[in-house]
Amino acid sequence: MTHTERIKIFDTTLRDGEQSPGCSMNLEEKIRLARQLQRLGVDVIEAGFPIASDGDFAAVRAVAAECREASVAALCRTTEADILRAWEAVGGAARPRLHTFVATSDIHLEHKLKKTRAEVLRMTRDAVRLARSLTDDVEFSAEDATRSDVDYLCEVFAAAVEAGARTLNVPDTVGYTTPGEFIELVKTVRERVVAGRDVTISVHCHNDLGLAVANSLAALGAGARQIECTVNGIGERAGNAALEEVIMALHVRSDRLPFACGVRTEEIYPTSQLLSETIGFGVQPNKAVVGRNAFAHEAGIHQHGVLSNPLCYEIMTPESVGVPANRIVLGKHSGRHALSRRYEELGFALSAEELGATYHRFTKLADRKKLIYDQDLLSLLPAAGSRETDSHVPADELMFEIAEAYSG
Ligand code: KIV
Ligand code: ZN
Repeated sequence: MTHTERIKIFDTTLRDGEQSPGCSMNLEEKIRLARQLQRLGVDVIEAGFPIASDGDFAAVRAVAAECREASVAALCRTTEADILRAWEAVGGAARPRLHTFVATSDIHLEHKLKKTRAEVLRMTRDAVRLARSLTDDVEFSAEDATRSDVDYLCEVFAAAVEAGARTLNVPDTVGYTTPGEFIELVKTVRERVVAGRDVTISVHCHNDLGLAVANSLAALGAGARQIECTVNGIGERAGNAALEEVIMALHVRSDRLPFACGVRTEEIYPTSQLLSETIGFGVQPNKAVVGRNAFAHEAGIHQHGVLSNPLCYEIMTPESVGVPANRIVLGKHSGRHALSRRYEELGFALSAEELGATYHRFTKLADRKKLIYDQDLLSLLPAAGSRETDSHVPADELMFEIAEAYSG
């Protein structure tokens, strides 16, 4: 049996995710989503950035009161006002976490913070010390870590650990790194800073080059034990590492990624759907794991394979992520097997001869129409009386039921 190590899943849908354009949520929506995140089984829910607005403050406080199983994190910069405000919001949680951050790259120091390296080092030490005087659970993030000078980054991380940080987060803030490079960086932090101490290395990857999930998973091999991610991968610009992709990669490829986490995979799709409904937009159809087409098969060869044994073309079952069933989409690439199966589901057992004739009509229609609905299939059937049915439901009644189902 493979030895599996437990890692933490830190969800930042309500903070980094909510920061992205068009993704803002009101208080009730955040609470509903936080409850679902807890049902999903994430370890940490980052509920917001309390100093940013009164709305964020209220949301963090409400989530802290509501979610008693997960840790609830509040984000704050390294100023005293930020930290105290964050604590005021999250202090009532059963497991409160203060997450303080400051940028460490020269470009951020020079152009954004207008601070020297020595000043940022001091800010880190003071902030973590203050946060640690309020709670044991302090996470420190070095914003833009992947574009920071590595010696300086390690110096700042070391100061954070000395001041009491229990989690060191290595963010790829601008989605710039690559898996190989990130492995080296995380390994360096593990060897030079953590050096056997009880400090968790976390990673927080943005998706500007489409590498957020790959980078996060790669970091596990280098010693990271917490992944920060968001549902549907929402987040600043191109988003954050998508939670559903990280989790299912761990499940499907446990041979290569021997890490366990507390997420209940069957809650993935319901969580994704809830988020999409809440923010008013969903994921692209071909989005891994939760997209409309993630378990849909249209090509005839694929449909035949999946109907014979789903493992032919599916590496995980739709049910395992909470999707009701795989979706055989009928279109011009579909074959006879899929067509016959759909008719059977609709209650019609076609003879080989009937299937041949119906399939011929089907391909003609499919050339003209992008999607073929059940109503279309019924209209393609040979005339009533000349075919067998095992459903005992008259075709017009069935048609009515189907029409009802679609309009509902
Ligand atoms: O992307 C980033 O650097 C962040 C930090 C606040 C962790 O979101
Ligand atoms: Zn971020």
